[in-house]
Amino acid sequence: MNSDEILSKSVKHNLWTWTAQRKAEVLPVEKAEGVYFWDTNGKRYLDLNSMVMCVNIGHGNKRVQEAMIQQIRELTFAGPHMATKPRALLGEKLASITPPGLTRFLYTLGGSDANENAVKIARDYTGKFKILTRYRSYHGATMGAMALTGDYRRLHWEPETMPGVVHFLDPYAYRSSFFPDSSSVDEETFSRAYVDHLEEIIRFEGPDTIAAVLIETVTGTNGILIPPAGYLQGVRALCDKYRILLITDEVMCGFGRTGKWFASQHWDVVPDIITMAKGLTSGYAPLGAVAMKEEIAATYDDRQFVGGMTYNGHPVSLAAALANIEVIEQEGLLENAVRRGETLKVLLAELKEKHPCVGDVRSIGLFGAAELVRDRASKEPLSPSAKPLSPVMKHVKSYILEHGVFMYNTFHTLLFIPPLIITDAQLREGFNVVDAALEIADHEIQAGLE
Ligand SMILES: Cc1ncc(COP(=O)(O)O)c(C=O)c1O
Repeated sequence: MNSDEILSKSVKHNLWTWTAQRKAEVLPVEKAEGVYFWDTNGKRYLDLNSMVMCVNIGHGNKRVQEAMIQQIRELTFAGPHMATKPRALLGEKLASITPPGLTRFLYTLGGSDANENAVKIARDYTGKFKILTRYRSYHGATMGAMALTGDYRRLHWEPETMPGVVHFLDPYAYRSSFFPDSSSVDEETFSRAYVDHLEEIIRFEGPDTIAAVLIETVTGTNGILIPPAGYLQGVRALCDKYRILLITDEVMCGFGRTGKWFASQHWDVVPDIITMAKGLTSGYAPLGAVAMKEEIAATYDDRQFVGGMTYNGHPVSLAAALANIEVIEQEGLLENAVRRGETLKVLLAELKEKHPCVGDVRSIGLFGAAELVRDRASKEPLSPSAKPLSPVMKHVKSYILEHGVFMYNTFHTLLFIPPLIITDAQLREGFNVVDAALEIADHEIQAGLE
């Protein structure tokens, strides 16, 4: 099939997600290897978004491919109630990398249903109903996960989503309404204010009605928001005080993205439940999981877990996950995320130093963001909305793609989420392109372009 046919037939028979069909920007992709992929015309792209923030081990890994092929040959499918070799091995492996005590796993198809199942389990375990999540969060696109999501994507489906979700504010230093100039307070004071804010909400909502607090440990698409010192510990303490479960959504920030298996390990906080997907298989097959403590799983010793889908625990996905985790271990990808993460920090700082349009930069491991602004003093975002993007932001985006770098942006924020195998030279290759795009943005802003 030639390039035009692939594109035209894909467009003709497909309904694209998250976009109007006529405005869909479709990239016809042919092959992928390492940190690169190629379109059907042979153009190469440096993948600074790990495709959908998921290809942590990089593209085309032979070991994972072989494990999947072997599983397909041995046993392509088995029902969700069957014991299989990959189920046995993956459970054991996951239990060895999750924080202490989280040793039972429910397998799902992805991140959204992992979060919905975590909610079901929390409600069954506590006998309580409400779930508290933050405004600047994304927890998935199914109806319940949309209700959990705090950001603008939820609004479209309201009020017909899952009832019982209450949102609270994020400890987001660059745009804090409690501390407009966050540099004037130390991190502990800053964290304390946001923990106190959560406690006030818990009291008003009634601790006896709240089953769980569910948060992205490090917020992903809403701009790589890293919890300030003391914050996660403070949330954990509140959950303990009011007998509320702490669920951390590590769908994007898990599996080495931040330099640890799970981001909560940076703060020595052990959640009651962790949801995961994406980096669990590095996107080689669809899979999510809900990790939980034994005492929570014991809820279902003598009573039914009312839930389950045909493909829960698909053997090919489980085999992919197992091989993927072994690759992360054997190729030292946690260590590489830490080391290359230091380079990412330096490169982001250089961007900020050089370009007036960079208002703030943040990163942890290979999880970074640059927030673009029209004016550093007012912090006015370079694009106030996603659709349509402002002309200058559109130019930044299209320049970067035209010059062979694939990235994701949330409104005015560029995200840097490369595969964990990336080298310093490859990071620099990407940053050179971003640097040139921001040069143009600086000039356009100065010239008064919207
Ligand atoms: C933090 C977070 N949670 C949940 C999800 C939903 O995962 P999925 O798209 O696999 O359903 C995503 C997807 O981007 C995510 O980033």
